Amino acid sequence: MNFPKATTFPQFIMRERSMGPNPLKLCEELLGCADIPAGSVVLDLGSGAGLTSALMAREFGLTVYAADLWSDPSDNMRFFEACGLTNRQVIPLKADATALPFAHGFFDVVVSVDSYNYFGREPSYLGKHLLPLVRHGGELLFAIPGMEHDCHDDLPACLLASWTPEQLDFMHDMDWWRANFAQTEGAEVVDMREMSCTREAWDDWIGCDNEYAAGDRAAVEAGALDYLNTISVRIRRR
Ligand SMILES: C[S@@+](CC[C@H](N)C(=O)[O-])C[C@H]1O[C@@H](n2cnc3c(N)ncnc32)[C@H](O)[C@@H]1O
Repeated sequence: MNFPKATTFPQFIMRERSMGPNPLKLCEELLGCADIPAGSVVLDLGSGAGLTSALMAREFGLTVYAADLWSDPSDNMRFFEACGLTNRQVIPLKADATALPFAHGFFDVVVSVDSYNYFGREPSYLGKHLLPLVRHGGELLFAIPGMEHDCHDDLPACLLASWTPEQLDFMHDMDWWRANFAQTEGAEVVDMREMSCTREAWDDWIGCDNEYAAGDRAAVEAGALDYLNTISVRIRRR
């Protein structure tokens, strides 16, 4: 696939700041399905070390709140500055997705790449904690690491080569996520599909010289990507 925006970031930044399958490519493909006007106010939820926030601010012209639980917002701010971004373009903060400090209707769009499955598996999460923060008519775009078909009752050996059954419980198939979102009144799923760049994004990640990437390598080399996908979800708040 072609990634004119994601590839504006040098390889070493990707290596240093990635926390999983290439988030820049996932984010560019995810936003390619939507038409978000420049200047829109976006919550990047579970933004990690800020790669997707920097991409959206610099390459898409969006105003981005980069909210994450584990990362240090000061470190992220230094990274944003190094990308040529100001605190008018991207706002780093430490926040828990289950206690977000924003007014109802504040955001035009929520984007979440490789994170929603950490905090959004409980079906009540969306309606209770996230949807109210988006204006009516606004959108939520998620790239969720998933499974082709849920196989938790009979996990293939290739998946168990890197991950425990508890870790794999964070991954589900499209039917599972559709049923999850269907429980939220006011959330209209306008699109859900498998993302095209999954294998490429994983190859980039596995190629990173980083201990977490090295830990995932055994599963991928044993054929895990025959069972895994990335699910893109586009939800509109009615
Ligand atoms: C695999 S990392 C992905 C980070 C980033 N989106 C990327 O693709 O590089 C998952 C992220 O989810 C965040 N996360 C997990 N639970 C969270 C919560 N309850 N609230 C906010 N962020 C959370 C973590 O801080 C972590 O940065």
